[in-house]
Amino acid sequence: MTDKAITIWQELGFCSTPYHTHPLKPTDDDVLLHVARTRESAEFLTQIEHVGGGITIISGDVGLGKTSFLNVHQRLLAANQAGVALRLLINHDITGVTADDTAESLARHLTFNLVSSIVKECVAKQQPVPKEAERIQKWMSHESKRSHVGGSIQILGSGFSAEHGSSETPIDDMRLENWKNILGLLVAEAKTCLGLHGVIIAIDNTETLPIDELVKILMSYRDTLFVVDDIWWIIIGRKNLYSQIANRDPRVSQRILGSGIELRPLNSEELHELVEKRIRGLRIDSPGRKKPAKSPLSPQIHKLLYAASCGQPRYMLKAADDLFRAILVDVRIKLTKENQGLLGSGMINKALRSELVDDQVPDTLAEPMLRKRAIDALRSRGLSDIQVNALRIVAASGPTQVEARAKAGRGSRATDEALALLEAADLIVKIEQLGGSRHVLKGDAWICNHYGDWNKLSGPVDTLL
Ligand SMILES: Nc1ncnc2c1ncn2[C@@H]1O[C@H](COP(=O)(O)OP(=O)(O)O)[C@@H](O)[C@H]1O
Ligand SMILES: [Mg+2]
Repeated sequence: MTDKAITIWQELGFCSTPYHTHPLKPTDDDVLLHVARTRESAEFLTQIEHVGGGITIISGDVGLGKTSFLNVHQRLLAANQAGVALRLLINHDITGVTADDTAESLARHLTFNLVSSIVKECVAKQQPVPKEAERIQKWMSHESKRSHVGGSIQILGSGFSAEHGSSETPIDDMRLENWKNILGLLVAEAKTCLGLHGVIIAIDNTETLPIDELVKILMSYRDTLFVVDDIWWIIIGRKNLYSQIANRDPRVSQRILGSGIELRPLNSEELHELVEKRIRGLRIDSPGRKKPAKSPLSPQIHKLLYAASCGQPRYMLKAADDLFRAILVDVRIKLTKENQGLLGSGMINKALRSELVDDQVPDTLAEPMLRKRAIDALRSRGLSDIQVNALRIVAASGPTQVEARAKAGRGSRATDEALALLEAADLIVKIEQLGGSRHVLKGDAWICNHYGDWNKLSGPVDTLL
């Protein structure tokens, strides 16, 4: 009999890593993992409570929780727990924009994902997939398989009326007008067969496209896809997306309900709550365990990572996951050396456990590792002296002084350029506040500064720690 595979996480009492960075899904389990954003939630629900559908925007920095926010609300709405009397089809497969998307290719993906959401819902409710959805699904899966071998496809087979497209049109020639008609057909069918008011269709990761290209696509949907009744469109993207669209084309922004939901960074209590919820949610209650599992890294390490994350949950989770894995790598190396390269199954887990104190990585192991990794990461970026200096100015004398220096014209251009590059490299973050903006350190730069390690960014590697 084969041994049951045990991951280190199972060994530590979890079904999987509590530090994963996937967006929350529209499920009851994941709703429990969500740290409520009461204000944003109230704004969102108020905006979508609109007869006949419309467009809503969810915006914010990357990794702030936009996709999770939508998914959790999709689930709450479907479960009638959002205090809104709208029954909408959950968009199970959210469409992310890719860099080479055109208005037509995106429309095709949106349609395909709407069909698959209808099918998933029918399977969940154990009812047959409605006729048109089934037919379009077949047609589109046929197309995607065939397109790899370059075959030309006849669309919409038999049975579609002429107004929904002609059976002669190859899928690549489908125009937005055709997609609009197909969406209309699918929505009407989903409403009657599933007893809903309409459907949610999300367009995610719109920051992938330059803003002008995005606005162009939205503009082309204005008189086509966006005209279809009973679709609740959710457009997810970069910080201040609504105002960026409004500044470029009021004809698009006029169609948007409200003025967008801007997600703010989470504060340290909320980030703490996020981890705590995961620890509780992913814990396996096995009868053999004496004590419930606790977080693999200590609250003190979490605190450092919260501070370094500037309120971005994905950064914080990834940093925790990376740190834990780095510790695992060290244990593996040590063990491999001790055993002349031969490691039996379960040995790593056992060895890791022996490094833990009361199921937790001791800070004496985690903290030097965190510190060294930050120095290593900054060194490998090959920052220029000006950039390192700019980081030190942001850290030491506060951002106001950086801007004051820039205004006074002393080395301003070089400092400005350095700040822009550091922001793009995610080492500093610009914070808008009354009376202007200011920069603060983020990630490895925050950690390096916290330990006063600036002088370790150059010189021989063995002087690191
Ligand atoms: N409010 C929240 N409650 C719990 N987890 C969150 C919350 N916001 C974000 N997360 C977690 O942070 C990570 C990033 O969230 P995600 O929704 O993918 O961000 P975005 O779509 O803005 O890039 C995910 O692992 C998600 O589970
Ligand atoms: Mg996302």
